[in-house]
Amino acid sequence: MSREDYSVESRLLSLLSLGQIVSGEKIASRLKISRQALHKRIELLRQKGYRIDGKPKQGYRIASVPDRLSVQRVLSSIQTQSLGKNIIYLDQTDSTQNQAKKLAGDGCKEGALVIAEKQTAGKGRLGRVWVSSGGGIWASLVFRPDIPPQNVPLLSLVISLAVAEAIDHFCSGLGKKIRCGLKWPNDVMIQTGGNYKKVCGILTEMSAESERVHWVVLGFGINVNNKIPVELKHSASNLQSVAGLKLDRTMLLCSVLEKIEEKYRKFMDHGFADLKSDYLSRCILKGKIVTLSDTEGSTTGRFVGIGEDGVLILRIKNRTANFFAGDVTLIPLRSPRRPAGTGAPVTAKGRFRGM
Ligand code: BTN
Repeated sequence: MSREDYSVESRLLSLLSLGQIVSGEKIASRLKISRQALHKRIELLRQKGYRIDGKPKQGYRIASVPDRLSVQRVLSSIQTQSLGKNIIYLDQTDSTQNQAKKLAGDGCKEGALVIAEKQTAGKGRLGRVWVSSGGGIWASLVFRPDIPPQNVPLLSLVISLAVAEAIDHFCSGLGKKIRCGLKWPNDVMIQTGGNYKKVCGILTEMSAESERVHWVVLGFGINVNNKIPVELKHSASNLQSVAGLKLDRTMLLCSVLEKIEEKYRKFMDHGFADLKSDYLSRCILKGKIVTLSDTEGSTTGRFVGIGEDGVLILRIKNRTANFFAGDVTLIPLRSPRRPAGTGAPVTAKGRFRGM
């Protein structure tokens, strides 16, 4: 497609993006093309999988978009200063993290974004595999924050808050009221059938010296219209099943990027303190007994809070302890099926700071 054709198509998509009927006359005059040329453009979009209703004497309206991420639609809709202005789109890749890390190492600007329809070696936290079949949002963003390396984990808390708010806002625009929860450190959860299930995970990787961050690559995986494998169904869900309809991933991606930029700026200007109460208001660990697991074992305690530096604070017997990393599971307070003895505090030495 020529640059000219691309630009006309982008402007056509952005004129039709509101889902409202727009008259052929108005579109043709805005795009400075003939009605006949407009008709051809509409046909081309239909061939690409867009369902466009044409109503005689009224105009055109997009009824549905192909379930593919569209760079063109992101660029014509997004309202950000720097995030998502430089997008690498891949049909399939091993991991968007690997691609984004290469870009970052080669000196790309802050805000570069790598997205893929599928990942063959999607990476999760703590060395886990992230299942990434088609239908999700698998994306990695490059940041160059001027913060000490030890503050980088806070950034992933900030991004998880942004994703949660963006999902809520996007779904409310579709008339679906949901409120995402957050599970420390950065899992975005939705409530379904009385349980919280994960809809988005965030992975943070960085290159830094002792005092200075070179780059941070923040990867987020959002389960949107993708199928959840049977073995993960107890703990993970997708937005399609909660909203009851297939979501437009491209538009959701725009909302997420806009929210991330807003929160990132706030974090860079005022620190985590300004965002902490919003984070805590969504935190699903409040008032709960939780087990923190990491490479050294597991520890059970009552959730006390999140520190200014992003640590998880637990009360274990009569003292409090701060945790920097790990995986948290909620312990049901009274579970009739829980075998006696499970969930008892097991503490491992040396990986938390007592207070
Ligand atoms: C987690 O374990 O919760 C983090 C999951 C992060 C998954 C995303 S998908 C896009 C990016 N590419 C990857 O390989 N991982 C992250």
